Amino acid sequence: MAVSRVADSPIGFPPRLPLARLPTPLEPLDRLRARIGGPRVWVKRDDLTDCAVTGNKIRKLEFTLARARAAGCDTLITAGGLQSNHCRATALLGARLGFQVHLILREEGVPNPHPQGNLLLDLLAGASVSRYNKAHYRAHQAELYDEWDAHYRAQGARPWRIPVGASDGTGVWGYIGCAAELHADFAAAGIRPAAIVHATGSGGTQAGLTAGAHLYELGCPVIGMAVCDDAAYFQNKVRADLREWAELYATGVAVDDLAIEVNDRYIGPGYAQATPEVFETIRLLARTQGLVLDPVYSGKAFHGLLEEIRRGTFSSTADVVFIHTGGIFGLLAQADCVAESAK
Ligand SMILES: Cc1ncc(COP(=O)(O)O)c(C=O)c1O
Repeated sequence: MAVSRVADSPIGFPPRLPLARLPTPLEPLDRLRARIGGPRVWVKRDDLTDCAVTGNKIRKLEFTLARARAAGCDTLITAGGLQSNHCRATALLGARLGFQVHLILREEGVPNPHPQGNLLLDLLAGASVSRYNKAHYRAHQAELYDEWDAHYRAQGARPWRIPVGASDGTGVWGYIGCAAELHADFAAAGIRPAAIVHATGSGGTQAGLTAGAHLYELGCPVIGMAVCDDAAYFQNKVRADLREWAELYATGVAVDDLAIEVNDRYIGPGYAQATPEVFETIRLLARTQGLVLDPVYSGKAFHGLLEEIRRGTFSSTADVVFIHTGGIFGLLAQADCVAESAK
């Protein structure tokens, strides 16, 4: 697929819709450091990519939706958990761009009769939603996409399928774009970080940052903090997205030589289930920095980073960059746990 190169860029980019508020700021967490010591932690504020479309998905969707539009599609079909940030971003961006949106959602535990958090915004944005129990969703995801695709085609619509998390060869571009920003951020701040750390859930953010760190010579590892599956799962998934990216866009990058570093020590009880310690970290960041993390992704990953700092993984003179990938509506959907931890 065609890419176009701008001056000074080590790689050409495919067509992109300018949907996100970019570049996002890179900020040091000085008050946190004064409190806990250790390396200087910087936050790349991808929670500021938009208001309701906040978070990492909008970066990927700039490329995904450009493809859908170029293909003449008018309907978006995607999937995720009931509180999926990706589905919420797709629902709102679909409304903004004039696509109809269908969401295939996985129930988590006992169905809650009152929509809240991301689901509330999906419905507000006018997305059609079909909900499935976890076992059915897991066993039949491909068929569910086929079913809804056929449904919309029978109505004369032109559907475009977006994989979970918009994590595929096209979505990879979103975080290559972020790596380009980080290159400029590091130069402006005069830092050479020891690591870039972020939450990894469907692999696309890590795939993009991994390729981007290589292309823009960021000179540090990208460490995905797993929030659900183990390191082997993410290594395979990130590798698969990178291979698809390299092939689809003929990038010439030897993606199999790129190291994919995953830390799966802080998953806790499972996806969307956070321990009291994660809520304690969320409270700490809110109270020392006014920074809001969520229990499913950014809070769990930041908690892992704090634990690594406490274990002495990073030198106290190092700079470490945390990518805040958003997720605030997932926090609001766990109001009971938040209230309990804030007592
Ligand atoms: C808020 C938030 N942070 C991080 C992630 C992980 O990103 P990725 O799916 O690209 O691994 C997700 C989605 O899975 C998310 O919604």
